[in-house]
Amino acid sequence: MTEAARDPRTVYLADYRPWSHLVDRVELCFRLAPKGTKVAAKLHMRPNPAARGRHVLRLDGEGLRLITLKLDGALLDLTPDETGLTVPADLLPECPFLLETEVAIDPETNTALEGLYMSRGMYCTQCEAEGFRKITFYPDRPDVMARFHVRIESDLPVLLSNGNPTASGEGWAEWDDPWPKPAYLFALVAGDLVAHRGGFTTRSGRSVDLAVWVRPGDEDRCAWAMDSLIRSMKWDEEVYGREYDLDVFNIVAVDDFNMGAMENKGLNIFNSKYVLASPESATDDDFARIEAIIAHEYFHNWTGNRITCRDWFQLCLKEGLTVFRDQQFSGDMRSHAVKRIEDVAVLRARQFREDQGPLAHPVRPESFVEINNFYTATVYEKGAELIRMLKTLVGDEGYAKALNLYFSRHDGEAATIEDWLKVFGDATGRDLTQFALWYSEAGTPRLKVAEAWQDGSYTLTFTQETPPSPGQPVKAPKVIPIAVGLLNPNGDEVLPTTVLEMTGATQSFRFDGLAARPVPSILRGFSAPVVLERETSADERAFLLAHDTDLFNRCEAGRSLAREMLIAGLTGGEDLLPAWRDALARLIRDDTLDPAFRALALRLPSEDDIAQALHQRGHTPDPAAIHAARRAAGDALAQALAADLPGMIAGLGAGRFAPDAAGAGRRALRNAALALLARVDGGAAAQSAFAAADNMTDQTGALAALLDIGQGAAELARFRDEWGHDANVMDKWLSLQVALAAPDRAAAQAETLAADPGFDWRNPNRFRAVFGALSGHHAGFHQAGGAGYRLLADWLLRLDPLNPQTAARLSTAFETWPRYDAARRDLIRAELERILGQPGLSRDLAEMAGRMIA
Ligand code: ARG
Ligand code: ZN
Repeated sequence: MTEAARDPRTVYLADYRPWSHLVDRVELCFRLAPKGTKVAAKLHMRPNPAARGRHVLRLDGEGLRLITLKLDGALLDLTPDETGLTVPADLLPECPFLLETEVAIDPETNTALEGLYMSRGMYCTQCEAEGFRKITFYPDRPDVMARFHVRIESDLPVLLSNGNPTASGEGWAEWDDPWPKPAYLFALVAGDLVAHRGGFTTRSGRSVDLAVWVRPGDEDRCAWAMDSLIRSMKWDEEVYGREYDLDVFNIVAVDDFNMGAMENKGLNIFNSKYVLASPESATDDDFARIEAIIAHEYFHNWTGNRITCRDWFQLCLKEGLTVFRDQQFSGDMRSHAVKRIEDVAVLRARQFREDQGPLAHPVRPESFVEINNFYTATVYEKGAELIRMLKTLVGDEGYAKALNLYFSRHDGEAATIEDWLKVFGDATGRDLTQFALWYSEAGTPRLKVAEAWQDGSYTLTFTQETPPSPGQPVKAPKVIPIAVGLLNPNGDEVLPTTVLEMTGATQSFRFDGLAARPVPSILRGFSAPVVLERETSADERAFLLAHDTDLFNRCEAGRSLAREMLIAGLTGGEDLLPAWRDALARLIRDDTLDPAFRALALRLPSEDDIAQALHQRGHTPDPAAIHAARRAAGDALAQALAADLPGMIAGLGAGRFAPDAAGAGRRALRNAALALLARVDGGAAAQSAFAAADNMTDQTGALAALLDIGQGAAELARFRDEWGHDANVMDKWLSLQVALAAPDRAAAQAETLAADPGFDWRNPNRFRAVFGALSGHHAGFHQAGGAGYRLLADWLLRLDPLNPQTAARLSTAFETWPRYDAARRDLIRAELERILGQPGLSRDLAEMAGRMIA
């Protein structure tokens, strides 16, 4: 039994019941003030026929000062409790009625950044998942969908809400949203903002006014966000047949924001870090991420808003699907292979890690204490992998049919995963009973491979096994689409990519009529989110790195070669370093290969990845040894390539900056080469690259190369002089110093940066810049003695009373504790216990610490 199940506040999927009433229309009036904002709400309601019998009316509400309450015009004298307000059943008519409330709230003191809050003088909201209850009394659940009319009164010049603007005057504006929506999609913004405007005409001829709203001074950094939005709108029409459905679409950039962005209907609110970009201030990665997040939030208009989730257990219904859609979009805009390689790297680093530790949970969880703790890599990224597998299994045509049916059948509804799978069943005739296990069982399946060769017949035998996870000791076999290709020893492909469908615990597939024993390329394109355990020679991995026609698997061959080399070095195995180094050096010199691909292939597995792999094989990872081994490998490669690097760097340089995939790929490879060269030239090349940089990618690339070899003090100072006024850019300065510190310096570096009086730790981006970097510094965070653990716990406890959501999120740094030695485990346990013992600890952090320790 997990901690979640013991907490009296636990919510269970099995307890779902429709709400007692229906809300036909909501009229809201806001009189904004930093203290004492008045929110008047008129809820037009009637009993819900689906909830048979007479019911009390229970409204959610937290931290609201109730001023008046009226039912059909008559005052009611009822007192709210801590979590809401109950109107007894005998007071309620059995026909439509009007409930009116007026409450007061204080956005100025709302540091949790949930509900209505202030960020540098501007009012904004974040309601997903359960923030609307901090604004007014309301059935704050996604299956209650209503039409909203909003009036805002304020002296601020720009007043925005969902839907279309209907009227405005001196100090007020009104908005009407014709589409019924759940409260979590409500949004309001008021501030002194300027717009970067654009327009889009939908394919049926609706003309839409687009605007990106930012603070005065930031308007020259909005063009990329606008461009990305327009491309997203077009793509969704062309690929999914989905058109936009309002006259305006607004995006607002906010500096204080817990997450990336939010898809509020017609009024997306973004962390400013994911909107603002210019070549000088944003890296290629920033440009790519902005494009992806703008697309993600826009795509939610259909997958999330028009069709929403019945309850929060169904979160992956909108998030998994929308992540998959944004991945498809980015692949179409850039390179599919490169995008897939990057997405899988993130999946392994975050989701596999989560899936193997105490926080493992199914893509559709069955219970939670605090829903904000379930906006996880599992729900999002593994959720997207499930959609990808479905598409592989039913084919492109089947997928298109299923999606069309989904949109037509469920438009305007709050749906479930059962609805989603039924659509696929109905559209394609496929039985998805076994596939549904992917949604209900946590854990990453391990896939073992055995080969047999006889008389021209080649047989692959796969065995699958999913390790136990909290509350789920035994797992059933899953449907696994395994994309396979076969190569001849001369490098020719004898079997192009073919999808094998594995359904049993063990299953064989035979390929006949082959002239020679082939080399298999297994799990092409990463066709399923599994750990492939295949023992094979370094030669064969090097062969695939040189010859595989599937670019994903080509890169994967290099990665597995590096992993085996590092693990062998750490566990006293064979010395594979020369084999790896030579194979990589050949690849890097191959100018026919896309630079972006070469840059990715050059990346060594992260220290955390190596620790994960060691643990999986029954070894206890030693963070200091992993760090040293990885550095030694980098040094060896740098020496082997020393003569080539200066020419490569020169050849890849310059040209005017454009944030396209080709330019980004050249810069990525150039920066990778620069980092290698720094290992052998003492940083000379990186220093001149820093001095010459005219864009942020080159500037941070050169700075990182210097910090990585223990230099860069002068460059850090220059960077601060240049960018000190820009907090989002300075986050890079903070992160790099922690991320690239020597392991025994990382915690002290984070501590020093955080102690600076100018460090605004209440801002989530700042907090993450320093402490996210610390927890991402594997050898630094896990420094023997536990200084990293203590520092992080101190700061989580400091942040928790102000912003529990962000504190809880960063606590996942501790989730890998079971991998390590007894001394480290004890140190981490002591910190988790210290956190749990804190009086007044938030529900968010209590749930996380409790689950990790359980
Ligand atoms: N729906 C948003 C997105 O994925 C995420 C918002 C989550 N916010 C939260 N506080 N849990 O785009
Ligand atoms: Zn989303």
